[in-house]
Amino acid sequence: MKLRSIKEIRSLAGKTVLVRVDFNVDIKNGRVSEKFRLKQAVETVKYLLKHDCRVIVMAHLGRPGGKLNHDYSLAPLVKEWRQLISPFGVKFYPGKIDAGLVGRVSADKSRLIMLDNLRFNAGEEKNDRKFAEMLASMVDFYVNEAFSVSHREAASVVAITKLLPSYAGLNLMDEVNFLSRAADPKKPAMALIGGIKIGSKFGVIDTFVKKYDVVAVGGGIANTFFYAQGCSVGKSVVDKKCLGKIKKLSKKKILLPLDVIVTDVKTKTKKRYHKLSWGKDICEPDEMIADVGPETIQMITKILAGKKSIVWSGVFGDTSIPEFKKGSKQIMTAVADQVKKKNVVGVIGGGSMIDLVFEMKKNTSLDFISTGGGAMLEFLEQKTLVGLKSLIKK
Ligand code: 3PG
Repeated sequence: MKLRSIKEIRSLAGKTVLVRVDFNVDIKNGRVSEKFRLKQAVETVKYLLKHDCRVIVMAHLGRPGGKLNHDYSLAPLVKEWRQLISPFGVKFYPGKIDAGLVGRVSADKSRLIMLDNLRFNAGEEKNDRKFAEMLASMVDFYVNEAFSVSHREAASVVAITKLLPSYAGLNLMDEVNFLSRAADPKKPAMALIGGIKIGSKFGVIDTFVKKYDVVAVGGGIANTFFYAQGCSVGKSVVDKKCLGKIKKLSKKKILLPLDVIVTDVKTKTKKRYHKLSWGKDICEPDEMIADVGPETIQMITKILAGKKSIVWSGVFGDTSIPEFKKGSKQIMTAVADQVKKKNVVGVIGGGSMIDLVFEMKKNTSLDFISTGGGAMLEFLEQKTLVGLKSLIKK
């Protein structure tokens, strides 16, 4: 797939460009936990500024559900973004994007403007043309530098491309180029799929089962499998909408955890071991599955040995609690060790995975770190994404 790159835009000088970035990162105590996604947008924005453009950056954070909610403001990110984009300054417009704000932004001559959370507007996630028109009214060009949200049919990703000349950012080009090659894995190949965004990941599992020799599942995906088997999973993250899909899946190549660590939902301090062979009563009603156990880690480590392609999206435990990062960390060490071997390709992607890999300093062992979790899996499955279609060169 060949995309139209920003480098192909002639006569950038004096133009205003709207850049969709993905700054959907964890913010703990007002601080950004890992700046990888922010860093990946820097090259494109600096390129445009150096070519004498005015740039308006737009992003989302979490899922505020189409309503203004200050807990989901991008404000805590602005300081980090300013540092990364220096020497250029950033003018931030907090709050919901409405006609008044659009008027003020249009009249503002600042070189670099950042808007607040797009998902404060219900139109964003509905791919609403009217909302896209409001965004488009401020600018001359649109640039997608948000690979990780390009699987979402949103106004700032899809509808906007029908209204403006649209181009791909430099990091988005890199992601598409690398992942296009990785989409046909060298055999034997292993995929690991976890995390809590279950719905969109379930969609790809049946294709992964066909392309990969083994697919190990963890996190919310494994919990949903356990629930489908009639296990009591208490308050574990589960997506009941996926139960129909589970029935249709060929289970042959899907590897479920052999053992788990259970905790209490309220304080997440309790730590209880459960082996799946002991029975289906995994959790009490006020408990949840928090991590994979040692036998699972050992089994995955053994299976990883000898694999030529490894893809991993979504952590295998509740990594918001250091104690429950253990399983994912040990599996990450096994992945990194395997990838160090000759002719082995290792790719990971997604918010929590990125946090983990940088915390463990395993980033240099991997061949590629994608900004996208669900987006990466969907791209590896379909070799395209809904948000990329309008950027393809004719
Ligand atoms: C992500 O973090 O994977 C992207 O920003 C998409 O976020 P979403 O799953 O809330 O649409």
